[in-house]
Amino acid sequence: MYRTHNCGELRISHVGQEVTLSGWVQISRDLGGLTFVDLRDRYGITQIVFNMDDDETLCLQARKLGREFVVRVKGAVAERSNKNPNRSTGDIEIEASSLEILNASNVPPFTIENETDGGDDLRMKYRYLDIRREPVRDNLVFRSQLAIATRSHLASQGFIEVETPVLIKSTPEGARDFVVPSRMNPGQFYALPQSPQTFKQILMVGGLDKYFQIVKCFRDEDLRADRQPEFTQIDCEMSFVTRDEVLDTFEGLTKNLFKSLLNVDLPDFPKMSYDEAMERYGSDKPDTRFGMEFCDISQLAKGHGFSVFDDAEYIVGICAKGAADKYSNKDIKKLTEWMQRPQIGAKGVVNIKYQEDGSVKSSIGKFYDDETLMAWKEHFNAASNDLILILCGEKEKTQKQMNELRLEMGRQLGLMDPTVFNPLWVVDFPLLEWDEDSNRFHAMHHPFTSPKKADQERMLNGDHETMKALRADAYDLVINGVEIGGGSIRIHDRALQSRNFDLLGFTKEEAEEQFGFLLGAFEYGAPPHGGIAFGFDRLCAVMKGQNSIRDFIAFPKNNQGRDMMIDSPSRIDTIQMEELYLNSTAPNGEE
Ligand code: AMO
Repeated sequence: MYRTHNCGELRISHVGQEVTLSGWVQISRDLGGLTFVDLRDRYGITQIVFNMDDDETLCLQARKLGREFVVRVKGAVAERSNKNPNRSTGDIEIEASSLEILNASNVPPFTIENETDGGDDLRMKYRYLDIRREPVRDNLVFRSQLAIATRSHLASQGFIEVETPVLIKSTPEGARDFVVPSRMNPGQFYALPQSPQTFKQILMVGGLDKYFQIVKCFRDEDLRADRQPEFTQIDCEMSFVTRDEVLDTFEGLTKNLFKSLLNVDLPDFPKMSYDEAMERYGSDKPDTRFGMEFCDISQLAKGHGFSVFDDAEYIVGICAKGAADKYSNKDIKKLTEWMQRPQIGAKGVVNIKYQEDGSVKSSIGKFYDDETLMAWKEHFNAASNDLILILCGEKEKTQKQMNELRLEMGRQLGLMDPTVFNPLWVVDFPLLEWDEDSNRFHAMHHPFTSPKKADQERMLNGDHETMKALRADAYDLVINGVEIGGGSIRIHDRALQSRNFDLLGFTKEEAEEQFGFLLGAFEYGAPPHGGIAFGFDRLCAVMKGQNSIRDFIAFPKNNQGRDMMIDSPSRIDTIQMEELYLNSTAPNGEE
């Protein structure tokens, strides 16, 4: 028997029992007459003590144990004289009577403790060692519990889990596809799904009514802390539903998950239109844990001889409460330089300080007298010691820049409380986005999203300008500024779907070639339907108050899309290349 108990379970009530434990040596400390070994497994750490007076050979053997050796220990549970209150097993230790090395270990390349000295790539290369660390292990346990709770809740609501294929044809979700060459079909490729979007719609046409799947999706896009090339969705679809029924269903799921995993009661989720979110926060995924909302002063600020403002399309400010005395000129200069980095590209930041003594100080004091600036105070709803930061320029660009500044100020002033969860539905997104570079429309969500009912007629018959104003029955779930999920009511009518492909620049032939199966299905009684997909990795990270999704994924990829452990992607040999017709042009249809 390798063990009678695990390393996290022995308590004072076990004192006197003979036990066997197996695990990894976290650390071994030699104190002369006594040698202490911390033995670790998935469940915790138990202290083992070897006593020179009791068994010299055994004690000498224990002294030779290196970090991460795998051992089996037998002994009696004893009460510790100096207890460790930070450990669940901290009241006891095992007085060892036998020790067996099950496997030796090289010295690990980084410390396997909660705080590690290993850099990201090193930790990923030796992911099996990283997973032995408590924070990573806890995240994976949490992920597993979240998946189980999701399945159980959705099943209780009548959803059925259906697997959809992984070798498919391109699904246009906006990123590039990963493709897989087909040996049996020379010169042809499968694409890995960016999401199971078209399949879940087909399942609705198939009458399954309520579908879900916890499913891998693949997107070849630039990577960030919250983006991986392969990630997981909780993908869902429902038939005969209105938008609000979909939102209620998934608000229910989210509340249930927060309650069952974190014992957090989420409030009802407010709804905010895309337009309102952009006006108030300059973002379609605002972090609403703090205020600092945008204040448009375009009208107020023009006509005072300050040409920078006079020539700007849009002038916007935010009010950082109680920050005037926290920000010296040097701090503001630093903030300005941060905003001027090419990633953000602001020209400059104007500041106004409403000082404690009632006076006002500003970087634009030359152009605006104190009386004028005092009048702005009311507009900003500002009080003494508040700091106003202002940007100006072309509207859309300036909104984006101000969003960055607002978030940075939120971070610097500690306004993003990790124990607070602020969910929000952002609704009524534009249906189409005009892209100047390619001179065509893009679907803001995806090409299967329905315009709002009131806009359907205008979509079928309107002119080019009308298309820019169409609103979609699309929605995002945002929690603490993170886009957790997105979905929409779908088009289920062939004419409307064809018109949408048209607007998106597909020729009739291209639409038929790529999506003929869906258009065809729409001719055989497609029910009205809609759904949503949650980013499962992101949901895990947000629930645990973390920014990066990597440590919720057992084997993540680095920023170059590489798996550092298996060293992938990698070259394949010439024979394999030839079999797949990758070196030469495929013979026309022949094998
Ligand atoms: P969307 O493209 O909005 O919608 O994706 C849904 C959610 O998936 C998460 N997500 C990601 N997570 C990690 N890494 C990525 N690279 C990544 N890309 C997206 C986000 C996002 O909100 N088929 C539609 C859903 C629908 O309409 O029902 C879709 O995929 O949290």
